[in-house]
Amino acid sequence: MAGRFITIEGGEGAGKSTAQLRLRATLESRGISVVCTREPGGTPLAESIRQTLLDVEGEAPVEMAELLLIFASRAQHLAKVIEPALAAGKWVICDRFTDATFAYQGAARGLSNELISTLERLVQEGRQPDAVILMDLQPHIGMERAKSRGALDRFEQEQHHFYERVRSGYLARVHENPARYTVIDAEQELQSVYNELDKLADRWISEHDR
Ligand code: TMP
Repeated sequence: MAGRFITIEGGEGAGKSTAQLRLRATLESRGISVVCTREPGGTPLAESIRQTLLDVEGEAPVEMAELLLIFASRAQHLAKVIEPALAAGKWVICDRFTDATFAYQGAARGLSNELISTLERLVQEGRQPDAVILMDLQPHIGMERAKSRGALDRFEQEQHHFYERVRSGYLARVHENPARYTVIDAEQELQSVYNELDKLADRWISEHDR
């Protein structure tokens, strides 16, 4: 049986990595083989594109170049990591995927959804996440958390209104296709986040077993 493709989304400092670790532990404790990965990144070439995208020093890509670099890294990541893992029956938990492109390059940078959808069709050939978790929080809280982690990357140096648009972009995606998303309040205490994630994992496992 093919595995499941789960993605975790949210603004900066939303706790995506912590959620990924928790889901991995819960699923593995139930005997499921899990691959954790991230975007942009996940293969050596895609990680080098990530470095280019996040670098605050070098030449900043124009919006279209940023979009194409993200989809180039996605094509590599899908072919080398995600598709083979799913075909082998593993569950893939990916820290960000194309919802991030609609939120950041679409809603926040202003590129059209039509353009992003065209690239999505070309690169993903129908591949979509089976489930998306949106770790939702107010941008100013996320930015405080991100700042406490150290130096800010190129995206983290954007202004507050950029992050308001990212958040609205994500929530608009949820509104369009609510069945695919679970929105978790990332401002609540960690144990409550864990409880929600554990329940979700249980639900997925029972759906998958059916
Ligand atoms: P991270 O903060 O999850 O490590 O992701 C790195 C940055 O990449 C984050 O600021 C959002 C950005 N990004 C996009 O702008 N578009 C995308 O499609 C993806 C996957 C990430």
